[in-house]
Amino acid sequence: MKFFLDTADIAEIRELAATGLVDGITTNPSLVAKSGRKFVDAVREICSVVPGPVSAEVTAMDHPTMLAEGRKLAAIAPNVVVKTPLTMDGLKTCKALRADGIRVNVTLCFSPAQAILAAKAGASFVSPFVGRLDDVGDDGMGLIGDIVQIYEAYPEFETEVLVASVRHPMHVVAAGKLGADIVTLPPGVFRQLYSHPLTDKGLAAFLADWAKTGQSIL
Ligand code: E4P
Repeated sequence: MKFFLDTADIAEIRELAATGLVDGITTNPSLVAKSGRKFVDAVREICSVVPGPVSAEVTAMDHPTMLAEGRKLAAIAPNVVVKTPLTMDGLKTCKALRADGIRVNVTLCFSPAQAILAAKAGASFVSPFVGRLDDVGDDGMGLIGDIVQIYEAYPEFETEVLVASVRHPMHVVAAGKLGADIVTLPPGVFRQLYSHPLTDKGLAAFLADWAKTGQSIL
C-alpha cells in the first residue's frame, strides 16, 4: 500500500518525506491557493523533494486548453502526473496525454461508472473522494470496494486506485482491507497514524523502569 501526501505545503512535505514512508504527493488548486505559492514553482520544488509521482491539476475546462496546460505541467519534472477532472473533456485530455507518454490522475471520481471511464481513458491513477461522499451521507469506502472489484475483473485496466479525500485513520485501514493501491493523506492524518495511547503509556512505563536500572546503552 502506497502513501501519498495530500498537500502543497513544502515544509510539511520535507518533514514528512524524511520518514521514508512517503511515496508521492497530490495537490489540487485549493491546496495550491492555501500554500500561497506560485503553482509552477511549488510543483518544481515538491518534485525535487519527493521522487515519486507528484500530481498537478489542470484548471481549464476545455480539452485543447487542458491539453496545453497538461503538457506544460508535465515539462516541469519527469515525476509530474497531470491531474484532469472526470469530465468528457478531462478524459479526452487524459487519453491524449497518455499518447504523449504522460501519466494522468483522473480526479473528482464519485461513482464506479466514472472509474470505468477513467480506466478506459488510460489513467494511471483514479481518485475517488471518500470523505466528500461520506459528508453527503453516501458510502465512500463502498465506492472503493466497487472500483477495486471492477478493476480486478479486467486485467487490461492499468489504473491504480488512489483513495482521496481521506479524513481519518480508519479510512486508511478500510482502504487497506479493500486492497486499494494508494491513499493520499492530509499531513494531520499521516501523523495520526502513528499515535495510540497504549504506545505512549507503554513507553512511559518502560522508560521509568529503565531509569531505575541506572544504566545507559551508549
Ligand atoms: C485528492 O487528490 C484531493 O486533493 C483531496 O484528497 C481532496 O480532499 P478534500 O475532500 O479533503 O478536499
